[in-house]
Amino acid sequence: MRLKLKMLVACFVLVSIHSISAKKSLNVVIDKALQHATEQSLLMAKSLENEVGKLPRSYVNGKLTTSDSRWWCSGYFPGVLWYLFENSKNNEVLKYAEEFTARVEREKYTTDNHDVGLMIYCSFGNGYRITKKPAYREVILTAAESLSSRYNEKVGLIRSWDFNKSQWQYPVIIDNMMNLDLLLWASKESGNQRFRNISISHANKTMKHHYRLDMSCYHVVSYDTITGLPHKKQTSQGASDSSSWSRGQAWGLYGYTLMYRETKDVHYLEMAKKIANYIFNHPNMPSDYIPYWDFNAPGIPNAKRDASAASIMASALTELSGYVEKPLRKKYLKIAEIQLRTLASPEYTANIGENGNFILKHSVSSIPHKSEVDVPLTYADYYYVEALLRMKSLLRKK
Ligand code: GLY
Repeated sequence: MRLKLKMLVACFVLVSIHSISAKKSLNVVIDKALQHATEQSLLMAKSLENEVGKLPRSYVNGKLTTSDSRWWCSGYFPGVLWYLFENSKNNEVLKYAEEFTARVEREKYTTDNHDVGLMIYCSFGNGYRITKKPAYREVILTAAESLSSRYNEKVGLIRSWDFNKSQWQYPVIIDNMMNLDLLLWASKESGNQRFRNISISHANKTMKHHYRLDMSCYHVVSYDTITGLPHKKQTSQGASDSSSWSRGQAWGLYGYTLMYRETKDVHYLEMAKKIANYIFNHPNMPSDYIPYWDFNAPGIPNAKRDASAASIMASALTELSGYVEKPLRKKYLKIAEIQLRTLASPEYTANIGENGNFILKHSVSSIPHKSEVDVPLTYADYYYVEALLRMKSLLRKK
């Protein structure tokens, strides 16, 4: 009897030691990944320091590609720098975060596409959260006015794109859910209820019309501006109109998670859980949880993976884990951990000074457009660093 008891205690101690060291090693992985991201991002910032107005975009055929602030991703590199400053308190990183954020300021007046929300919230939003500079606050509030000018009462959604008018009356893409973070922040900050109402209407109509019965979503839904109902459901960057484009599924997961955070409406929580269930139980999801660029991509298992979709999913899932009951929380965190460990491995993480000084390799912008395929992308880096910080903060609380 005594022996049995001793063995039981020994087993318990062994299991505890094992789980503590496993937890520790994830901490180590995260700290190393953040250190690497800081070194790599400083190299990137220095390489563009004297290129007036330029922001990194990708690294294609051995060459760094850049954009000005007009490109939809302009806010991501400044956002990476803000996160890395928050983590490291390194003043050189702060100097560059301020410098590259300033390069995006003119976008506060953008009214010709929905991406103003992402451009400004990832750059100035993080900058304001960390520094509380009043000038940054004004930029975000101006951007909220610009973004909300794209809302049509009859349709009840924010219009995404202005091009292809002969094909789409009022195109709304699933990606647009990401812009609601800025609007909801602006509503809280300014007391302007309209920003909140727009966000809620947009999220509700997207829930109704973008999602299929299996909880996958279309990329583009175009609405009839007279009836306010969809007249086309299509793709732009996915494998086909009926396919499940991975980054679109990731945007939706992130979008409904943020909607729940900001409103505490359980419909959004249920929605995020259902999307997660679809994504992470999909038969075409690889065991390392780095999705193919489309769940229905031709050529699976030889199709390209998309690290950007994995980063967005990891970040969203880590946040969502904080809103669900224990068994699901454990499951979500386990998946996010596998994603982060894979992304932090040499398979996806670039050597210092390589990969155009981007952090991650192997993302896909658009295979149908033959654009930026299997390359680094700023949004992969941004959501990866965000996910690392979210996970780090959870581990600290444990
Ligand atoms: N929002 C554009 C994209 O995800 O490629």
